[in-house]
Amino acid sequence: MKKFRALILNKKNESQSISYKLISENQLMEGDTLVRINYSTINYKDALAITNKRPIIKKWPMIPGVDLAGVIKRSSNKNFQKGDKVILNGYGVGESHYGGFSQIAKVNSKWLTKLPEFLTPFEAMAIGSAGLTAMLSIMQIQKHLKPSDGKILVTGATGGVGSISVMILSKLGYDVIAGSGKKEDVFLSNLGAKEIVTRDYFNHNDKLLNHQEWVGVIDVVGSKTLANIISRTYYGGIVVVCGLAEGVDLPTNMMPFIIRAITLKGVESIHTSQRLKQNAWNSLSKVIDKKKLKNLTTKIKLTEVESYSKKLLNSKIKGRIVIDLMRD
Ligand SMILES: NC(=O)c1ccc[n+]([C@@H]2O[C@H](COP(=O)([O-])OP(=O)(O)OC[C@H]3O[C@@H](n4cnc5c(N)ncnc54)[C@H](OP(=O)(O)O)[C@@H]3O)[C@@H](O)[C@H]2O)c1
Repeated sequence: MKKFRALILNKKNESQSISYKLISENQLMEGDTLVRINYSTINYKDALAITNKRPIIKKWPMIPGVDLAGVIKRSSNKNFQKGDKVILNGYGVGESHYGGFSQIAKVNSKWLTKLPEFLTPFEAMAIGSAGLTAMLSIMQIQKHLKPSDGKILVTGATGGVGSISVMILSKLGYDVIAGSGKKEDVFLSNLGAKEIVTRDYFNHNDKLLNHQEWVGVIDVVGSKTLANIISRTYYGGIVVVCGLAEGVDLPTNMMPFIIRAITLKGVESIHTSQRLKQNAWNSLSKVIDKKKLKNLTTKIKLTEVESYSKKLLNSKIKGRIVIDLMRD
């Protein structure tokens, strides 16, 4: 049996180790479908797992990687034929089931989404769970607001979820304010941001209600920043929350909700229904600007995963990281 390369995360006592091993198909976990992985990606969650910052991994040893894109090698599900292009996001893959940091995966076919015709596996992973979450968040904004209703704020704007949100919202005609802690160059304006606010703008939260500035928000940051943002949202606006890069707390108050009728909406991409995922992927394939997507993506090798995970958690990355699994 031909061997293939995988990144294996192991834990002994409290210390975690990473190795790059040649393994064979019979060492993979249970599943009705074999996928030859072309590309994977480092999401925020993967970076936390790789650097042992949070207890993301539920079984040891583990092949991390919550996302993968590739081609069906073999499946007992008749809906999938050899050669079909597929994507997998979430469902515990890379946490409790071997994930995408490998050249081959054995998975449950119910977790697979067909790759929309207009996207390549590389583009699907440049989008990844981060971009899927951006699209699911934008779908909530679209349900609530038209572009003419007012400005939309996106926080963590140079990160994965943030950069794709800025790019797509702008394409859809919304006026986007990008919130970022990075010293600004042209990255955000090239993605379509009309205004940029710095992270320290959200540090002062002295009032229960502040001056109204935006009608919609996609927030990946949480904590004091989110509380501040809620207090500055227009009457009837919506704040979509999907991340906690600053913290898990939310020190807000009731006034924005009962005086300004603000909606706070959570978004989750791991266990969301396959139907909603497929809808979101179809929408992504129609609205994504492929040239801009390519420009915001860094392609790396499997052996570079650890160093790039550290960079991502230290806010040293702009945009997205794709792992090329077609070369050793
Ligand atoms: N709900 C879901 O299903 C789902 C899916 C994917 C991701 N997420 C979550 O969304 C968040 C962002 O994910 P991502 O993939 O976009 O990660 P990412 O690429 O690392 O981007 C996060 C961005 O947040 C900003 N940031 C980092 N630390 C911060 C801090 N202490 N205070 C304020 N801003 C900070 C930085 O942007 P600037 O430098 O531009 O400010 C950073 O680039 C994470 O919490 C992740 O777990 C959730």
